[in-house]
Amino acid sequence: MDQYITSGDGIDSWKEVTLIYSAALRQIEARMDVLNEEFQHVHKYNPIEHIKARIKTPESIVKKLKRHGYESTIQNMVSYINDIAGLRIICSFTSDIYRIVDMIRAQKDINILSVKDYVTFPKASGYRSYHMIVTVPVYLSDRIVNAKVEIQIRTVAMDFWASLEHKIHYKFEGDAPEHIRNELVECSKMVSDLDARMLSLNEEIIEISAKQNAQKTTE
Ligand code: GTP
Ligand code: MG
Repeated sequence: MDQYITSGDGIDSWKEVTLIYSAALRQIEARMDVLNEEFQHVHKYNPIEHIKARIKTPESIVKKLKRHGYESTIQNMVSYINDIAGLRIICSFTSDIYRIVDMIRAQKDINILSVKDYVTFPKASGYRSYHMIVTVPVYLSDRIVNAKVEIQIRTVAMDFWASLEHKIHYKFEGDAPEHIRNELVECSKMVSDLDARMLSLNEEIIEISAKQNAQKTTE
């Protein structure tokens, strides 16, 4: 995206950046809506519960640049901050996460820069989620710009855990008491167990309905 900056580091550039990143977010969100609708049509269920999109605030971009030792320039934020545009996709079951990942991979013009699978390999905190940094082409009047988007994919249960953990992390400024951290790790295991049990319950239900339907057609 380096070549698109036309007006230095002023407010015009910031406006242009916001415009491009929100266009990128809208594009991916729209594509996910299409996949969800098509999936509903073919398989009679929605892999996606809901989607949250956000653009990082200028304050938090500046803070992150500082933390990494970079000056606050438009050039630096575009190059070093991967989550200016963020999309969180919430689904019901763990299997839906990988289904969505495969569908994103199949989109030829979405370029995957990096992947972190904290679902199979949770963080020490207990955090679970599937992360992808992708670029998507944004068509402007006179050029095409590839904009980075951070996609986080997780189940409703993982999202519940992550929201509470985030609140606690914020409240204690990253230094929560040990018993609280331990309790969060325990809760994360329960979330993982819940996800696994809900998945197998759902699979059993699908199997039973398939059998019932087969029976109906032979009757
Ligand atoms: P930043 O944390 O954004 O600097 O990115 P990173 O390069 O460390 O990447 P990572 O994939 O670890 O985290 C990206 C984002 O995932 C974070 O900004 C959070 O939104 C989320 N995240 C990562 N770890 C945790 C966690 O332990 N708890 C919660 N609640 N969210 C997390
Ligand atoms: Mg981090």
